Order: sequence, then structure tokens, then C-alpha cells
Amino acid sequence: MTEMCRYAGGEGSGDDLEEILHPYEDRSMTVVRYVQQERVAVLTLCNPPVNALSVATRTGLLDGVNRALASDAAAILIVAEGSTFSAGADINEFGQPPVEPSLGDLFRHIEDCPLPVVVAIQGAALGGGFELALAAHYRIAARNARIGLPEVKLGLLPGAGGTQRLPRLSGANAALEVILSGEPIAAEAALQMGMLDDVVDGDLAEAGLIWADQIADGGLGPRPTRKVTTGMSDPVTFMADIAAWHAALEGETADTTGKIIECVEASLLLPFEAGLRRERSVFRELLASDRSRGLRHAFRAERSAGRSAKQVSGKPRYIQSCVVMGGGFLGGSISMALLNSGLKTTLIETDDASLSEAVGSILDVYDRSVSRGDLAASERDARMALLSGSSAYTSAAGADVIIHAGPVAADQAGRDLAGFAKAAGGQPILAVASDLDISVLVETIGRDALVGQMVFHPPLRANPLVEVLVPEGAAPELAASLFALARRMGLKPLLVAPRGSGEGLIAGRLRGAMRQVAEHLLILGAAPEAIDAAVRDWGFRLGPFEAEDRAGLEAGRADQSRSYPDRNPQIIGQPMTSALLDAGRTGRSAGAGWFSYDTEDGRARPDPVVRDILSATRPGTTAAPGDAQIQLWTQAAIANSGAWLVADKVVDHPIDVDMAALSGLGMARARGGPMLSADLAGLAQLQQALAAMNAEHPGAWTPSPLWSELIKNGRSFSDLNE
Ligand code: CAA
Repeated sequence: MTEMCRYAGGEGSGDDLEEILHPYEDRSMTVVRYVQQERVAVLTLCNPPVNALSVATRTGLLDGVNRALASDAAAILIVAEGSTFSAGADINEFGQPPVEPSLGDLFRHIEDCPLPVVVAIQGAALGGGFELALAAHYRIAARNARIGLPEVKLGLLPGAGGTQRLPRLSGANAALEVILSGEPIAAEAALQMGMLDDVVDGDLAEAGLIWADQIADGGLGPRPTRKVTTGMSDPVTFMADIAAWHAALEGETADTTGKIIECVEASLLLPFEAGLRRERSVFRELLASDRSRGLRHAFRAERSAGRSAKQVSGKPRYIQSCVVMGGGFLGGSISMALLNSGLKTTLIETDDASLSEAVGSILDVYDRSVSRGDLAASERDARMALLSGSSAYTSAAGADVIIHAGPVAADQAGRDLAGFAKAAGGQPILAVASDLDISVLVETIGRDALVGQMVFHPPLRANPLVEVLVPEGAAPELAASLFALARRMGLKPLLVAPRGSGEGLIAGRLRGAMRQVAEHLLILGAAPEAIDAAVRDWGFRLGPFEAEDRAGLEAGRADQSRSYPDRNPQIIGQPMTSALLDAGRTGRSAGAGWFSYDTEDGRARPDPVVRDILSATRPGTTAAPGDAQIQLWTQAAIANSGAWLVADKVVDHPIDVDMAALSGLGMARARGGPMLSADLAGLAQLQQALAAMNAEHPGAWTPSPLWSELIKNGRSFSDLNE
């Protein structure tokens, strides 16, 4: 094998000036390795972590193909290093000025290559990564490989020939399944649908070499996908499938989906080049849409917690067994997440009756999953076997982690944790699962203890956010261990800076602002159902009143009693909540709160009794705010809360606030989070809305200084993420 590659930092990596003048060229030679093995030129993608098709990778591939053409190679094999063949286009380059070669041009070059090109896929080939394979002449994959076109999850379509090439191989139906679901499929399924030529066991690179060699030997030559017609051999079925997909369109994404279906239709009706142009134009339109910007930002925001994790330099502890104190909804949810991740869990309750109720509720949830067919009975039994229950401190012996999820004050939680830590022996990791004052905990337990906070937002599947807070000066292994534990539980940790006085974390602050603006709009005359509907239409899973009914109005009122610069319940007050509580409407579990829950399906139903209570409590009659005002004010209130959190350095970047809202508040991913949606709406518009809100109740909504600063300098919240 002739080594012709230059490695980063290795011999011959070029002088500095050369690298400054030709940065992409130099990098391209490190991210695509060129090796010639006898008659096969092997191009290896080596651009960790996911072999994204960045400009350097595209250049490297283009150069590699050209180098093979200038050599005596008779075939080209494209393979990749690492666990992912390629995650496709480099998402970080979206929105940047385009740099040649584009993916489309590169793939066209590969498709037109006079030497046969074989791609051998290991791990995942996603988006542009799979489109690269589609543009090659032959495709093989390891048995555990997966292929997919997830662009739809970013509000896009496969924009580098995917909508034109895939249907030529697999027909319209299979192509649309893959394109519109965005879900990866297994190699074997892809083979059955004509998307691959072979699935191999054993050494993939070796199999790829054999394929390339045999193709060169057999004189099979290139097989450009644009000339393949297998998937279109029955045009009547092809068009009938297209019609069926069109007929099934519904919902808010129907317009976008319809355009994607039209592109696939164009693969049959239009010449290849015209189909590509159509695909390109829809791709550009989608790329510029707010929906795609929101979804791409959400992708980054969800991974921004990873950035915080990197600030946590410690080595996580090895964790095998956990103790959860408190078997209510919070403790039960935490226990189940621990059991689901294979951790031995001891649930502690104050007495035997509460304990058996808590364990029974966990078993009920698993039983329901088994009867729905979501969980195997053997898996339920395996998880239940990891669970034990107790009402004694001593049962904490040997525990690695102790989580307090009981409804107690900080000093009591501290005393409980200190007792458990003593019973556990050694130095277990201690955490409270609620938003208590961490300084009180530290004082009660002692400075040497490893104590932090993990604030969960059940139901955990819907709200996977875990806000992690550790005291200043804590041993680095504490945050690292809490992060690792949250990840193991399948949740999304976010590091929050301590503020010293139990000042609420991120999701709680945002939820509080959302709830206060709802009360404000209620006082102005909007009905709870109108507020909830407008907020849901804008992009939240639940409206603020239905959410409060679920949590219980008493709990909601306690949560809302704190004042911050971005909201002040002492000024706005909560007269409506108090009036409902006085009428015994304490929330969904009582069958009545802001709504009534007395029908068989248990759905929230507006109740005339509530209307009467509200009319009697309102200070006067004004024109009720409409949907636009409800949505604008809600957006302004939440973004202002986020802006204060950034200004006060509770979080590092606005994108952390977005991550908290997306994974902890049920905000739609397509909105990208409160800070991105503030950028998209225009900061000046939201600043004006805040001024109007403040004029109604002076001092209740103090705008963060960030608004003026950003507007004055023509900047956005997104600029602060850099
Ligand atoms: N571009 C740039 N970076 C990417 C990337 C991409 N396409 N995909 C993943 N990454 C980065 C992540 O941001 C993350 O970076 P940090 O470590 O700095 O946070 C890192 O790679 C690892 O990613 P994950 O944490 O997600 O790792 P994972 O192992 O859980 O998942 C994956 C790997 C399945 C590939 C997942 O990252 C994924 O689904 N990626 C997106 C794939 C995608 O949507 N591709 C389509 C791109 S659009 C396209 O190709 C359009 C076109 O047709 C022109």
C-alpha cells in the first residue's frame, strides 16, 4: 500500500504561510486520506467526530477523485474511519457564505467519474453522507450500518440529489418513507428496497476492496444513478404512490411536505438536471425559513449542554447503586429513570404504607407499558428486581448516590442527606432534586460533602432537562458525576451557575415568567382557554393554565411567589389563583382548577363557573387581548427572563436558555427556544411589548439591560452564542 497522505502536525504539513493562504486545501488532506492499494484508490474520510462533509472534506474528496484519475488506479473505494460513516452536510456551515465545491457539484463529479466508485458504509450514513453513497456507482454496507435522510428533522430536504437519485433506485414509496420520516433504516432493509447492492459481514474495508477489484476486473465500469431506472420501471405505481402521499398531507407542515413530495415526483417527470434544480430551489427556500432555523438551532442547543460538560473537568464516579428519598411523583419518576438505566435503586419513604403505594405506582406504570406492548414482561421484571424499598436510613449502606426528592425545606433536606451519607459510609454523592438553596444544604451537611442539585422536570420523557448545580469550589468529580448520571438516565443535563440564595434555576424562572404574563392577560380580560390555546398555537405543548392544573394550584402559587427583576408577583398579584383556590378548585387531581376535568376522557374543559369567578375578580372591563397580543407578550416575558439569566451570568450563553426551554418547558423545537425566537421576531418589537407590559403594572416587568445594549449595537442574542 502506498501512503500518500499528509497528517495534521505530521511531516510535511506545510509552512504557516501556506496554511494561511490555502487553509481548506491543507485541512482537506488531513480529513480525507488517499491510499492506493494495487489498482484501487482508497479515499478514507477521517473528520471526527462524525465525518461531516465540511468544506475541507468536500475538497479532500474532490482532490482524491482527481488524484485517482491521474493515477493508474482502475477503481475508487470510499470508506470512513470512526463509528459514523458520515452525518452529512456540516451543520455549522449553514448560514455561512457557500464555499466551493458544493455537495451537489462534488456528487456530480463522483457520479460522472470515468472510474467505477464504490462506497462501503459502516455505522450511520446520514443526510449528505447517504447522498454521497447515492452518487457513487456501487454501495455496500456492514450489517450493522444504518442509512437515512434526516434533513426533514432540520426543516430541510435532502438537497444534494437525494430526492432525485433515491427514487431511481427504490421507487417513490420507499424513497418518501425514508425522506419524510427522517428515521434511519437498517442496512438489510435498505438492501431489500434497492438502496444498497450488498450487506456484508466481517471486515468491511476488505469487502470494499474485493468489490472494487472485481468491478475493475469484470469491466463493469461506472453506473451513474441518474441513469438507473429500476425504481421507475412501473411509472403508474410510482405516480399512484405520489398521489397517495399527497392525499395524506395534513397539519402545519403539509406545505413543506407537499413540496418534498413534488421533488420526488419531479424525479420521474423531469429530466435529471431539471429535477436537481427543482430540489435546489426548494432546499434554499426551506433553509431560509424560520422553521428550519429553529430546528437547526434546537439541534445545536440540545448539544450545547455537552459544551457545559466539557467545562466539568472531573472524572465521573463509577455508579452502581442509588437511593431516592421520597416516592411521590418526582421521586417515582427519578426512580424509574434510574431503574430503566440498569441502576440498583432503593426507594425510601417515611412509612410502610407510603412505601408500598410508591412501589405500587411504579409497578403500575410498567404494567401499563407491558399491556400496551411497549415493554417486554421480562424487561419489567428485570427492572423491578433492581428496586428495593425501605423506611430506614440504614438501607442506604453502600449507596454511591443519594437523591433527596422529598417536599422539605433546605435545612431538613440537608439533615436527611447527612444522615443517609453516614449510613451509606464512604463519601457518596448527594443531591437534592428540587430548587432549594444550595448554600443552606452545604452549611447543614458540611463543606467536605459532595453535595449538589439535580433539578428534574417530570414527566421526564416529555421534559428531559436536568439542571445541575454544584456549590462554588466543589470537587470537579461532583459535577462530572451528576452529568454522567443524568446522561445515563437518558436525560439532558445543563450546568447552572450557583447564585447563592436559592434563586430558582432556569426552567423555573422561565415558567414563572410565562405564568405571570398569563395572569396579567387574564386580568386584562382574556379567558384561560383563550390564553392556553394561543400559547399552544404559538408552540408550547401545554398552555400555562392547564400546566398549572396538572401541578396543582397550591404548588403553582408557591412557585410563583418569588420576585425577580424580570417579574414581580407582588405587583401583579395572583388574585385569580386565590379566588379559584377559595372556591376549592385546586387542580386536575381534584377534578377542577382553571378547567374542569369531569368528562370521561379527562380533558380540560372550560367551565362557566371559572368565568364567573374571574369576572367577579377582574378590576374592570377592557377589550380582551387577542391571540397576537397573548403570543407577543408571552414571548417577550420568557425572553426577558432569559435575557436576565444571561446578563446575571446564571448561564453562559443564550443558547443554554433555549436548551432549557426546549427540553424542560415543552417548547416546540421548530421555535428554536425563546432567545432565537426573540431574534427572529425582532428585538425592538419585544422590547416595545415589555415597555407596554411595564406601563400596565410599573416595576412588574423590568427589561434586562441586554435588550438596549444589543439593539444599540445592531446585535442579536445569537451573536452572544459565538
Ligand atoms: N455537522 C456538523 N456537526 C455535527 C453533525 C453535522 N451534520 N452531526 C453531528 N455533529 C456534531 C455534534 O454537534 C456533536 O458535536 P459536539 O461534540 O461539539 O457537541 C458531535 O458531532 C457528536 O454528535 P452527537 O452528540 O449527536 O453524537 P451521537 O453519537 O449521539 O449522534 C449522529 C451522531 C447520529 C450522527 C447525530 O449527531 C445526528 O443525527 N447528526 C445529524 C445528522 C443530520 O441531520 N444530517 C443531515 C445534515 S443536513 C444535510 O446533509 C443536507 C443536505 O442534503 C445538503
